Amino acid sequence: MSKPILEVNELTTNYVTRFGDKIFAVDHVSVKVDDGKSVGIAGESGCGKSTLALSLMGYYFPPLYYASGDIIIDGQNISGMDPDVVRKTILGNEISYIPQAAMNALNPTQKVIHFIEDVIQAHYPHTPKKEIYELARERFELLGLPAEVLQKYSVELSGGMKQRTVIATSVILSPKVLIADEPSSALDVTSQKMVIKMILDLMEKGIIKSLIFITHELPLLYNVTDDIMIMYAGQIVERGSADEMVFDPIHPYTKALMGSIIVPEEGLRDVKLTAIPGTPPNLKNPPSGCRFADRCKFVMPECRVRSVELRDIGGGRSYRCIIPEEDLRKAYKSEKR
Ligand SMILES: Nc1ncnc2c1ncn2[C@@H]1O[C@H](COP(=O)(O)OP(=O)(O)O)[C@@H](O)[C@H]1O
Ligand SMILES: [Mg+2]
Repeated sequence: MSKPILEVNELTTNYVTRFGDKIFAVDHVSVKVDDGKSVGIAGESGCGKSTLALSLMGYYFPPLYYASGDIIIDGQNISGMDPDVVRKTILGNEISYIPQAAMNALNPTQKVIHFIEDVIQAHYPHTPKKEIYELARERFELLGLPAEVLQKYSVELSGGMKQRTVIATSVILSPKVLIADEPSSALDVTSQKMVIKMILDLMEKGIIKSLIFITHELPLLYNVTDDIMIMYAGQIVERGSADEMVFDPIHPYTKALMGSIIVPEEGLRDVKLTAIPGTPPNLKNPPSGCRFADRCKFVMPECRVRSVELRDIGGGRSYRCIIPEEDLRKAYKSEKR
C-alpha cells in the first residue's frame, strides 16, 4: 500500500469579515494524496478551492481561520501550528503553493534569479549566491527553460514563460507536494499546454512527489491528474479517478461541469457548451440539506431537508447525493437521446 504524503481529515476553516460575519469556505473536507500521485480539484469560482489550498498548508492569516480537523504532511501533524512557523519551515520546503495569477504578482524591478535567491535563502540563509545560481541554471535547463531567463526581469518574459518561471522557482527546493492554483487559466492554448507539460515533468523527473492541481475546468484534468475531487460550496461532492470522473460522472454537479466547458483536448473537443444555470450559494448562510439543490435537475423535496454525507462506494470513489448512482446514470443516458 502506498503511503499518503498529505492527509487532511475533516478540515473546516472560515473567513471572518470586518463585520464579524463568518464565511464557511471549507467545510469538513478530507483530502488524501498518496506518494507519487496527483489529485485535481475542480469546481466553479467561489466554491472554496483556493481557500482549501491555503487551509491544507496551514496558512492561516486573517481573515482566514482554522476551525477543526487534521492536516498531516508526510507524517507530521501541522494542525494548530503557528502560521509563521509553517511559513518558515514547511512552505517552499515541504509543500509549495503557486497562487492563482502568481505570474502577475512578480516584482517587475527584480531579476528572476532574485526570486530564486529569496526562496532558497528563506530556508537556507547562508547559501552563497554562486551556488544558488548554479542550482537554478541546472534546474531551469532540466525543465527546458533557457538559463538566460535567470538574468531577465519579469516584464521581459511572455505570459507562458513567466508562468513557467514561477513554477520552476516555487519548486526550487524540491518540495514533496506542489499545489498549483489555476496555473494555466489565464494563458493561450499553446502556453497552457507547455505549462501543463512542465508540471507533469516535475512529477516525472522526481522534483516533486505529489501534485494538487486546481482548476475551474474539469475536463482539463483528464490527462493531468490521477484522481479528481469536485468541490461545491465549500464541500467535496465527488471523488474518483480522472477517467471515471470525466467519462462516468455520478453527482449531478460533476455531470453539469463536464458539459459546461469546451476544452482544447483531443477527443474532448466537442463537449457541448452549456453554462450551469444559477450560481453557487452564498457561503455566509449555506443552505441546509444538499447545497446544489437549487440548481439540480433531479431535486426532490427531501434534498432540501436531509443532510447528505459523502458516500464511499468503493474503489476510491465517493459522492454526495441521496439518489442511487444507478438512477443517476440512467437519467444521464436517457438525456442523451
Ligand atoms: N479574503 C477573503 N475574505 C472573505 N471571504 C473570502 C476571502 N477570500 C475568499 N472569500 C470567500 O470564500 C469563498 C471561497 O472562495 P475561494 O476559495 O477563492 O473560491 P475558489 O478558489 O473556488 O474560486 C467565496 O465565497 C469567497 O467570496
Ligand atoms: Mg480560486
